[in-house]
Amino acid sequence: MSAKTKKAIKRPRKITDLPGVGPATAEKLSQAGYTSIEAIAVASPHEIAEATGISETMARKIVVAARETLNLGFKTADIVYEERLRVGRITTGSKNLDRLLGGGVETKTITEFYGEFGTGKTQICHQLAVNVQLPKEKGGLNGKAIYIDTEGTFRPERIMAMAKAVGLNPREALKNIIYARAYNSDHQMLLAEKAREIIEEEGNIRLLVVDSVMGHFRAEYPGREALAERQQKLNKHLHTLARIADVYDVAVVVTNQVMARPDVFWGDSVVAVGGHVLAHVPGSRVYLRKLKGNKRVARLVDSPYLPEGEVVFTITDEGIRDE
Ligand code: GTP
Ligand code: MG
Repeated sequence: MSAKTKKAIKRPRKITDLPGVGPATAEKLSQAGYTSIEAIAVASPHEIAEATGISETMARKIVVAARETLNLGFKTADIVYEERLRVGRITTGSKNLDRLLGGGVETKTITEFYGEFGTGKTQICHQLAVNVQLPKEKGGLNGKAIYIDTEGTFRPERIMAMAKAVGLNPREALKNIIYARAYNSDHQMLLAEKAREIIEEEGNIRLLVVDSVMGHFRAEYPGREALAERQQKLNKHLHTLARIADVYDVAVVVTNQVMARPDVFWGDSVVAVGGHVLAHVPGSRVYLRKLKGNKRVARLVDSPYLPEGEVVFTITDEGIRDE
């Protein structure tokens, strides 16, 4: 491994390591919540200038330096390759579903599970929040999860049952999931920002769940007139999530309920609500649909590098499993 690559992995570094950041500037940055190089790298110069009183020109220099330190600018493809090799994966509990995803849900990217009600989106989120805690050899990342619940459907009892089924201590499993209920879209956006701070403090968060990502936005910005505003806010939110995934090496998993459109007779007859927005953020999209009983079909859609395909999994008392 080259020295440069090593440098890209090593963490944490102090913000005073950045050129141009002396003790006084560091103090201003810290007081405004920019306590690490990661936090600065993912911020815009404008927002830093606003929050700290540092000039925008200065803020721009600091942001550029932070991004260079973290290797977020141009790099040679062999470094991209090494970064790809280091991507972490979390098992879904189903070998079929893992295979579809190229070995499980990936860190550094957003994975969207979308489908109608009852297709298992929330169950998958619960399962991943448990499985991320498993050791590597069992398909986990030895990590913790942050769970943003917009619909009030998180069930600690379900977590405990799933934890027990994979041999984890149910109480410990609950302690490794940091939960927040989002009451509206602004709150949801704030929680995503807050999640970034928690990730910095905790260090070992490897999964961030937002179940569901669209619900509040859809309810609060109904109709055509509100569409532009909704897209704008949603885009901002998704970019926050995408940056968290990339910078902190976290798997971001979002769900999106979609409605069947009986008036459409071709294709899936399903319209992804806000789908065209989510489609513009890099990541994997998995479409879920019901078969009979506890069986579900998952299909990978628009993957940047994996072949499209379909697999079947089941929802059991133990959690997400193969047939
Ligand atoms: P919406 O949020 O309404 O869009 O649905 P969803 O896609 O999130 O569905 P969810 O993940 O809630 O899946 C519901 C399915 O999981 C139902 O078919 C339930 O029967 C099943 N399920 C939930 N809990 C359990 C459980 O403890 N045991 C078993 N066997 N199945 C469960
Ligand atoms: Mg749900």
